[in-house]
Amino acid sequence: MVLLWLTMLLTWASCLPQTIQDPNSPIKNLRVDPESERLTWDLNGNVSKIECIKDSIQHIEAMRNMYCHIDGLSLCTVSNYTVRASEPPFSTWILFPEPASPDGKPEAAAENLSCLIHDVDFITCNWTVGQGAPSDVQYHLYSTDVDTREQRECLHYRADARGTHISCRFDNISKKFKYFHNYVIVVNGSSKDARIPCTDITISDLSRIEKLSMPQMTTKCNKTHSLMTWKMRSHFNTRFIYELQIQQGTEPAILETVKHGTSFLLPNPGRYTVKIRAQEVYDNLLSEWSAPQHFVCDPEEPPQARTWRVSLLIALGALLALLLALVLCRRYSVAQKIFPPIPRMKDPISDHFPNDKLMAWEAGTAEPEDCTVTEVRLVKET
Ligand SMILES: *[C@@H]1O[C@H](CO)[C@@H](O)[C@H](O)[C@H]1NC(C)=O
Ligand SMILES: *[C@@H]1O[C@H](CO)[C@@H](O)[C@H](O)[C@H]1NC(C)=O
Ligand SMILES: *[C@@H]1O[C@H](CO)[C@@H](O)[C@H](O)[C@H]1NC(C)=O
Ligand SMILES: *[C@@H]1O[C@H](CO)[C@@H](O)[C@H](O)[C@H]1NC(C)=O
Ligand SMILES: *[C@@H]1O[C@H](CO)[C@@H](O)[C@H](O)[C@H]1NC(C)=O
Ligand SMILES: *[C@@H]1O[C@H](CO)[C@@H](O)[C@H](O)[C@H]1NC(C)=O
Ligand SMILES: *[C@@H]1O[C@H](CO)[C@@H](O)[C@H](O)[C@H]1NC(C)=O
Repeated sequence: MVLLWLTMLLTWASCLPQTIQDPNSPIKNLRVDPESERLTWDLNGNVSKIECIKDSIQHIEAMRNMYCHIDGLSLCTVSNYTVRASEPPFSTWILFPEPASPDGKPEAAAENLSCLIHDVDFITCNWTVGQGAPSDVQYHLYSTDVDTREQRECLHYRADARGTHISCRFDNISKKFKYFHNYVIVVNGSSKDARIPCTDITISDLSRIEKLSMPQMTTKCNKTHSLMTWKMRSHFNTRFIYELQIQQGTEPAILETVKHGTSFLLPNPGRYTVKIRAQEVYDNLLSEWSAPQHFVCDPEEPPQARTWRVSLLIALGALLALLLALVLCRRYSVAQKIFPPIPRMKDPISDHFPNDKLMAWEAGTAEPEDCTVTEVRLVKET
């Protein structure tokens, strides 16, 4: 008898239009508590296996069949929250927040709101003006710390040509935003003619919305080693690995990965170029590559200077050898063959150089042996 009655009740209940509040519904008085982010209800009888469904896609298990916790509950975007029980089979739903009243314009709300942490200390949020927004619309952005309920208005707005705010920046964020807290970012609007709905997003993990800044590198080097050290700054990310792209001399560039610490020792650096970037370990966020930096790590003897000096020495040596050969050849070989020796010729300082040179070249037919022989003679004489 009881079983029959139950079966009847269940069949009847599941056929009920869901919006009609029946005093015998297993789930009654469905409501949202924005403060605690809970979707909650009253139970009527023995009801079990309850789940909540947000907008037909996101399934959330109920806590002790009493309520569902809605992470990032939006106070601006209307959502359909459905509650479904398996025992007995039953479901009901509610819209939250309440859809815009007839004077409201849903398409006037800010669109495509998104935020980014950048340059270590700043959060910038962008949005676009709602498609159906009246021309006098103005938007303002607030952040709310979900854990402490603390609210801040953003102060540094950027506006479009009409003067409508489309972007806002929070400065010095390390003091205002805390790593493990959740934040709701709300853009609400105002207009003389219409009520403008708000737009919100929930940021549950600040570390994920950071555009990492690149490491700042300093270098000390000498002939044998180059020590590169760098500083990485972030308020919300802590674990990084680093990639260094190093190009030495004319060799192809190599990639070095530094998994521990913030330094790298390069042996025999010579002349090289280096770029660095950081990668966050958990979410694989990447910074940009730093601008290439050039180093010459052999300042006492740069290779170019060495080449110069060597060429100079070779040239000087060649010139000296040539002069010596010319002088000797003229004095003791060629001259002796053409003119008889006279005492005046024994003083090389008084010799007329251009003439000597000319004579030497004219006498180029002289055999090298002549020179060698006379050279020996010269040593004997002096
Ligand atoms: C509630 O229903 C479950 C099964 O659906 C059953 O095991 C349990 O005994 C029932 N409790 C009461 C108080 O009726
Ligand atoms: C809410 O979702 C339920 C199904 O989950 C659907 O039956 C109902 O019509 C929806 N309500 C609105 C107003 O869209
Ligand atoms: C907003 O984003 C949607 C998709 O996310 C895109 O289709 C739309 O063009 C964007 N609107 C503007 C004004 O950028
Ligand atoms: C916001 O817009 C500016 C300019 O168009 C752009 O440089 C910046 O990256 C945008 N920020 C975000 C968070 O989309
Ligand atoms: C950040 O705070 C410091 C002092 O705490 C202040 O000197 C500096 O001007 C602030 N920077 C910005 C961009 O507001
Ligand atoms: C926008 O939100 C802030 C904070 O909740 C509130 O002080 C302000 O009055 C709102 N502005 C409009 C136009 O609703
Ligand atoms: C070159 O630098 C390295 C590392 O900084 C150091 O250990 C070494 O003593 C230096 N050598 C000379 C010749 O200064």
